[in-house]
Amino acid sequence: MYKINTNYQKLPGSYLFSNIAKKVAAFQEANPDKEIIRLGIGDVTRPLTNSVIDALHKAVDEMGDADTFRGYAPDLGYDFLRDAICKWDYVRRGCDIAADEIFVSDGAKSDSGNIQELFATDNKIAVCDPVYPVYVDSNVMGGRCGNYDSTLEKWSDIIYMPTTAENGFVPEFPKETPDIIYLCFPNNPTGTTITKAQLQEWVDYANKNGCLIIYDAAYEAYISEEDVAHSIYECEGAKTCAIEIRSFSKNAGFTGVRLGFTVVPKELKCDGVSLHDMWARRHGTKFNGAPYIIQRAGEAVYSEAGQKEVQELVGYYMNNAKTIREGLKDAGLEVYGGVNAPYIWMKTPDKMTSWEFFDYLLENACVVGTPGSGFGPSGEHYFRLTAFGTLENSKKALERIKNL
Ligand code: MLT
Repeated sequence: MYKINTNYQKLPGSYLFSNIAKKVAAFQEANPDKEIIRLGIGDVTRPLTNSVIDALHKAVDEMGDADTFRGYAPDLGYDFLRDAICKWDYVRRGCDIAADEIFVSDGAKSDSGNIQELFATDNKIAVCDPVYPVYVDSNVMGGRCGNYDSTLEKWSDIIYMPTTAENGFVPEFPKETPDIIYLCFPNNPTGTTITKAQLQEWVDYANKNGCLIIYDAAYEAYISEEDVAHSIYECEGAKTCAIEIRSFSKNAGFTGVRLGFTVVPKELKCDGVSLHDMWARRHGTKFNGAPYIIQRAGEAVYSEAGQKEVQELVGYYMNNAKTIREGLKDAGLEVYGGVNAPYIWMKTPDKMTSWEFFDYLLENACVVGTPGSGFGPSGEHYFRLTAFGTLENSKKALERIKNL
């Protein structure tokens, strides 16, 4: 008889955002007349930009003509896109990354969930707490996290690095040395970040202790401060200890289009074994490449007009971030983030738990946010609002919150 991967049985409840979607749907069904403002999941609301739409139309036409039709895409990505990424995201920022170290995929969520397949089950992983749930859940599926303690809301074999207001949202080096460290800056969910000098300390720590850093830079386009690194490869020595994951979802609004990439430098080796070769082998076996049409759309993001449009999109969402941040502050709330990231992280009022505040806000203001505890135990008593809504809804949500 066949056997299932029992690690799945260990996962508590459903995926955070599925859980929230179900709760909101139930509320809407019970209150059909209420207008709900959704500032929960970090999903974009602005349409795709002109350059992207033009590139999509052109690529669709090419697919309808026998002379320009394309079948399977190269499994690691088309050169036109890998070259554009290399030039704009790395060479321009002084990072010594080659185009063939960039692996194009259908998004950062898939890559951050799949990357753990390269590593043995007895690796000890460390995560910031709170954290984007995919890193933990995918490692649970891979059998790397031990058992879940529902009282502590922690996995027995994970090293948690609290990032809270008390330490300025900067993770400290853990007492026990991990093998694999997940870092995400600018951070989801806290909307905060660390300086390039602080990131350099993590790179030095990883090289010294033989750790691997999996660096999620999905929100790099939102960096507004000079001393923050856009890529971990801006730090010296990162090519021997870090993999970087990037997305087109947040900068160019591709959440429904799906495109991302992962950088695995050739110098990154574990006991002489190349992680670049391993990831290429995995991609070749399990992935047939992101669609041609979508990769052409991705290429358009790097055109001069495309880059300008990205700046406009980011500017639009960051104006929402400012509106939400300042509005919450005016309402007397303790607020963090929203300067280098499209997330605002607030302390719940009156010592409410994160889920109590979620229900309170939904029932009394019809505003949806994300409970901080859903991202890890240190997220308790915090709450996340996203700046990815419309300006009108962001303002309206703030009015409702102020009137509570
Ligand atoms: C979030 O809300 O944390 C993100 O939208 C989730 C994601 O990007 O997968």
